[in-house]
Amino acid sequence: MNQPTLPRYDGLSRLLHWATAITVLIAFVLGPEHFGRLFRNGIDPATRIDVVWHESLGLLVFALTAVRLLWLTLRPAAPHIAMAAWMRKASTITHRVLWILLLLVPVTAIMALGSEAHPMTLLGGLRFEGFSAIAQWPIAETADWGDVHKVLADALVWIAGLHAAGAIYHGVALKDGVLASMLPIKGIR
Ligand code: HEM
Ligand code: HEM
Repeated sequence: MNQPTLPRYDGLSRLLHWATAITVLIAFVLGPEHFGRLFRNGIDPATRIDVVWHESLGLLVFALTAVRLLWLTLRPAAPHIAMAAWMRKASTITHRVLWILLLLVPVTAIMALGSEAHPMTLLGGLRFEGFSAIAQWPIAETADWGDVHKVLADALVWIAGLHAAGAIYHGVALKDGVLASMLPIKGIR
């Protein structure tokens, strides 16, 4: 018997969702440990391929998030799938927290680079020194922005993990079409 067609997010929303998820995970794995010590030892970040990839992918996350948020205001309505009110509330809150972290993690990275007067080094040999002006801003002194960036990046990945576990629970136990609505391929509930 034919299954009814499940409602799905539009193609661009699905493409941007998965591109962001993959980019966040790779950027997280490449997160430069002991970054401060590296610089105190006089190592140029441009010579560290993990740092260059991390900063490039991190900026890509920021760009993807900006495009997604713009698309959110223009796209067709997200699929409406019936579920308990508390579940809908939990999912709305989780999405909002994820959106905020997707913006704050790159912003705090720029604060970290700027307040420690490090250059931003990107793929293609790009190098930006201009952020060091941030070191003069009063806000630069209010926190260790490298630590703030790290804590928020950890929170992003933990919450994304819970969100993914929730989505898989919908797909495996509830089979209500929530997981399918974001999957790149058809045919899975
Ligand atoms: C969603 C995007 C990002 C994620 C998930 C992420 C994740 C992380 C993590 C987990 C660390 C800590 C590594 C450790 O100490 O074990 C880190 C450090 C760092 N990240 Fe990111 N990051 C992102 C975006 C960026 C961007 C856009 C930049 C700069 C353009 C950047 C620059 C840095 C720097 C400079 C550090 C070292 C901070 C310090 O200790 O002073 N990150 N990142
Ligand atoms: C870093 C990883 C991830 C981030 C930052 C993230 C973020 C988000 C955000 C912001 C939304 C709302 C999308 C929109 O309205 O266009 C969303 C929806 C969704 N995500 Fe993720 N996600 C991640 C990973 C995953 C994974 C691994 C899965 C599946 C295993 C998944 C499954 C879903 C599903 C099914 C929806 C639609 C849920 C609904 O409409 O209630 N996500 N995600």
